[in-house]
Amino acid sequence: MVGSEQIRPLAPASDRHTSDHNVNIQTAKTKPLKTRTWFRVSIYIAAFFLLIAIVTVILIFTIFKIKNPKINLNQISINQLDLTNATSILTSQNISLTAHVSVKNPNYATFKYPNTNTNLYYRETVIGQARGPAGEAKARRTAYINETVDVMIVKLVSNPRFQSDIRSTLLPITSYTIVGGRIKVLNFIRRHISVSLNCSVLVNLTSQAIKEQKCSRKVKL
Ligand SMILES: *[C@@H]1O[C@H](CO)[C@@H](O)[C@H](O)[C@H]1NC(C)=O
Ligand SMILES: *[C@@H]1O[C@H](CO)[C@@H](O)[C@H](O)[C@H]1NC(C)=O
Ligand SMILES: *[C@@H]1O[C@H](CO)[C@@H](O)[C@H](O)[C@H]1NC(C)=O
Ligand SMILES: *[C@@H]1O[C@H](CO)[C@@H](O)[C@H](O)[C@H]1NC(C)=O
Ligand SMILES: *[C@@H]1O[C@H](CO)[C@@H](O)[C@H](O)[C@H]1NC(C)=O
Repeated sequence: MVGSEQIRPLAPASDRHTSDHNVNIQTAKTKPLKTRTWFRVSIYIAAFFLLIAIVTVILIFTIFKIKNPKINLNQISINQLDLTNATSILTSQNISLTAHVSVKNPNYATFKYPNTNTNLYYRETVIGQARGPAGEAKARRTAYINETVDVMIVKLVSNPRFQSDIRSTLLPITSYTIVGGRIKVLNFIRRHISVSLNCSVLVNLTSQAIKEQKCSRKVKL
């Protein structure tokens, strides 16, 4: 009966007829298969929870896993002054150096840092210290920090090797920058991270470019 109806050319009227027929067949079949349907439903529920467990494990090892931010020194620039002239340095009231630091955040959450700090050394003597403003590196982005340090000219000039360094137009500077902050994932996974960067550079006083750079990074959790 059903087979002969399927052979017929499809007309709107006959279509409605066949669908009515199918509904009748289905309701007749489901009643004895009730327990098997429940079994199938419970398998679906178990599979659903298994899927959630797998997704959670994957998230914990990828998106929620907190990685360390990477800190880098891009440049040290000298503000305000022509440093190639020793006389003008001696007579000036203030010189400042700016450390251009970038913080690369590899996480899927924002890295907020309320504390940034830079110390500058010239031949093992502290010549300047600065606290930077609070900031943040957005998820999977790089933030740029310009930390301007006022130089204590007396400390710079009183060094016996200063005159010869000026003549060579290369000034050896060591910068020590520490960026301390926090990464928070979903309000309950949070970690305090301090990344620090210790760089020894040779600043070319003419071009203000860094000639040599040796850096070491440290991470404190
Ligand atoms: C250095 O600066 C002083 C005072 O600013 C100036 O009199 C002198 O000519 C400068 N020397 C050179 C080589 O530029
Ligand atoms: C020194 O700093 C003061 C204020 O910060 C500024 O007005 C002055 O121009 C600076 N002097 C030099 C030589 O850069
Ligand atoms: C930092 O300094 C560089 C070069 O002077 C400038 O292009 C950049 O906009 C500065 N960034 C910030 C955050 O001040
Ligand atoms: C930075 O590195 C230099 C040389 O590697 C070392 O002598 C100095 O103590 C370091 N400074 C800090 C603050 O770690
Ligand atoms: C510093 O930079 C200038 C201009 O780029 C260059 O001519 C000079 O050779 C550099 N000095 C050193 C010691 O590398």
